[in-house]
Amino acid sequence: MKLRIGILTISDRASQGTYQDRSGPAIREWLDWALSSPWEEVCRLIPDELEAIEQALIALCDREGCSLVVTTGGTGPAPRDVTPEVTERICQKMMPGFGEQMRTVSLASVPTAILSRQTAGIRGHSLIVNLPGKPGAIHECLRAVFEAVPYCVDLIGGARIETHADRVPAFRPKS
Ligand code: MTE
Repeated sequence: MKLRIGILTISDRASQGTYQDRSGPAIREWLDWALSSPWEEVCRLIPDELEAIEQALIALCDREGCSLVVTTGGTGPAPRDVTPEVTERICQKMMPGFGEQMRTVSLASVPTAILSRQTAGIRGHSLIVNLPGKPGAIHECLRAVFEAVPYCVDLIGGARIETHADRVPAFRPKS
């Protein structure tokens, strides 16, 4: 099975062209650096609209066959920040440890990390992980949780994910 990864940027301003999306490309760069498996990206850029987020997440999981979907943006406390709500709405199972770990690691460098409600969940054979919108958060948050991602994706029947062990080891418990 070919590994496909969804990269979903959720931002009113980037989707209107007010500024350029830097977070989506930062996710792609980090994954290129970390993964040794060949993979295909499926990128989308949408505004902070509940319906648009819901449709994009469902399409990336169910139609595009992405074993992993990484979102960026819309996790904060502002009225239009609804990414975690939509993630929860379309997932069958939540994985709260991902958000806890990303906040714990991020809090060591920035006190406002507590403002991110980022979470993760499972829809079918896909793992969805929310990251904050700040480009600087991408590397830190992915590094904080990624060692557990390949095994999680194994457990839900997604594609096999291999990493460069000297960069980000993939932890698979011995059975
Ligand atoms: N996490 C990391 N690692 N680095 C950051 O700069 N910014 C915080 C937080 N988490 C930040 C972070 C801030 S300022 C906010 S408002 C929240 O993420 C939510 O951001 P979002 O609404 O763009 O998702």
